[in-house]
Amino acid sequence: MKWQTKITEMTNIEYPIIMGAFAIIGKAEFTAAFSNAGGLGILTAINFKTIEEFTEEIKKVKELTNKPWGINFTISPPISNKQGKNLGRDEDSYLQFLNIAIDEGVKIFTTSAYNAKKIGERIQDAECYWFHKCSTIKHAKSAEKAGVDAITLVGLEGTGFKNPYQNTTLVNLTMAKKLLNIPIIAAGGIGDARGFLGALFMGAEAVCFGTAIIPTKESLASDYWKKKIIRQNIFDDKFHKKVFHYALKESLDASMAAGHCEKIISIEDFIKNSIIEQSEEIIKNCSFL
Ligand SMILES: Cc1cc2nc3c(=O)[nH]c(=O)nc-3n(C[C@H](O)[C@H](O)[C@H](O)COP(=O)(O)O)c2cc1C
Repeated sequence: MKWQTKITEMTNIEYPIIMGAFAIIGKAEFTAAFSNAGGLGILTAINFKTIEEFTEEIKKVKELTNKPWGINFTISPPISNKQGKNLGRDEDSYLQFLNIAIDEGVKIFTTSAYNAKKIGERIQDAECYWFHKCSTIKHAKSAEKAGVDAITLVGLEGTGFKNPYQNTTLVNLTMAKKLLNIPIIAAGGIGDARGFLGALFMGAEAVCFGTAIIPTKESLASDYWKKKIIRQNIFDDKFHKKVFHYALKESLDASMAAGHCEKIISIEDFIKNSIIEQSEEIIKNCSFL
């Protein structure tokens, strides 16, 4: 089966599968392994304090893969700076990083967590793609107005910055399909072939995986972290509250997608077998198609 969508056409990837941005573990080896398996690997800029470190990491990805890959800029919302929480950087402090990445030939960029208009304009001036990630349709609409090439919408069942007005992945995708005119990338709580196919059927042009790829061999998460996700009972009251109840403001290291993580497998096994082969099997055996 040819997995061709608007996002695979834009990015030249084999499957409509995108790696989430990851604080701490979104580094070169993980990024390159994801791209080598046919998805779009994402290097997360927040993990590098200096331009030198960042440039070295870009070169490392280039040595490890010749497939397409991208870079994420997670923008610190001003409120987090005021509260003294160190969530990353503001837009201006990323511009130098962005210029280096463009000079190094990177063609795909994702932004997240806050308005990224200035960065987006620079990305598009350089004729690169700009995908922005947000958690509400309202923010998605303003990003569309700002000219983004695609939107990643994260559902409430996913990991990441929570918003009190966030909806589930199902509501996000079906409504986004009606209200937006740009390609949508689904994220939040997706960890198996059924979720992947469901998201595509609801109108997504690709799926972004976070939690589900932490317990893979190439992920840079510790063994303890990988095993914790595999053992996580997603029906446990405390875990459920942590994921769904914004007011608790607990830090999240996994989402409802943890329910699909059964053992540590390679990224290639995850993408090619757990997602693609299984999806093809489901389509083949589907009684109503
Ligand atoms: C440990 C961890 C760290 C993350 N760090 C970031 C980050 O720095 N920036 C960002 O935009 N998203 C971050 N995310 C969110 C992912 O990129 C992705 O949007 C999310 O994990 C999708 O939901 P899922 O976990 O249910 O698949 C992180 C997710 C996890 C699990």
